[in-house]
Amino acid sequence: MNRLELQKINKHYGKKKHALCDFSFEFTNGIYGLLGPNGAGKSTLMNIISDNLLPDKDGGKILWNGEETRILKEKFRSRLGFMPQQQNLYESMTAHTFLNYIAALKCIDRKTAEQEIPKLFERVELSESMDKKMGGFSGGMKQRVLIASALLGNPNLIILDEPTAGLDPKQRVIIRNMVSDLGKDKIIIISTHIVSDIETIAKEILFIKEGNLIDSGTISALVKKVENGEKSLESLYMQYYGEV
Ligand SMILES: Nc1ncnc2c1ncn2[C@@H]1O[C@H](COP(=O)(O)OP(=O)(O)OP(=O)(O)O)[C@@H](O)[C@H]1O
Ligand SMILES: [Mg+2]
Repeated sequence: MNRLELQKINKHYGKKKHALCDFSFEFTNGIYGLLGPNGAGKSTLMNIISDNLLPDKDGGKILWNGEETRILKEKFRSRLGFMPQQQNLYESMTAHTFLNYIAALKCIDRKTAEQEIPKLFERVELSESMDKKMGGFSGGMKQRVLIASALLGNPNLIILDEPTAGLDPKQRVIIRNMVSDLGKDKIIIISTHIVSDIETIAKEILFIKEGNLIDSGTISALVKKVENGEKSLESLYMQYYGEV
């Protein structure tokens, strides 16, 4: 069982913007949905967990299986697969070359990469396009290349920041099914502001608002908190964030 603990994480941008406020949570194996509107702090949290952004000085601790990630450093990073929200793909590169490049950055040896990459393309249903330049890919295909890149090295912790952003409903379902199949032996954290992306696949949901964890739990426990109307996660989202 893997365990990721966030202990009172704080992050300010400049003096005024308090983007994360005493954010604490414990993740174990399974899929977690991080829900919140634009500007809630989802990407800030994911960038901090993945060590791409530092919290404030004395702004909390992150523990991976009981050890601080900032001490584990590469040992932790090698167990991590991260798909950041905003990414520019190298449009003139083929998808296959791109994954080779990411594998090299992750220090995965060439032979292992050569075995793993075709399997990953199969998994994200891009085998036929893997030798084509990514400039000609649809939004959904690009997102799937990025998911494949996050899966390189068989990580135990997978963080996907809005993998369904900008996709049509059909592509969203494809991505949802892929995430759902990633395996129960890992921690998977996926952010979105679209409830239907995660409500059927997540073990637990975290609601983040203005940098605060305002609620969390299993979907069946959360929907009991709906005050008016249908007992659904969508209704709870409306209750917490107002009309969208
Ligand atoms: N580099 C930065 N400098 C200053 N403020 C920032 C910076 N990055 C984010 N913020 C602010 O911090 C808050 C949280 O931003 P963040 O990107 O984490 O939200 P988010 O939940 O990922 O939003 P979205 O759904 O739009 O991706 C917002 O108010 C944002 O304007
Ligand atoms: Mg974001």
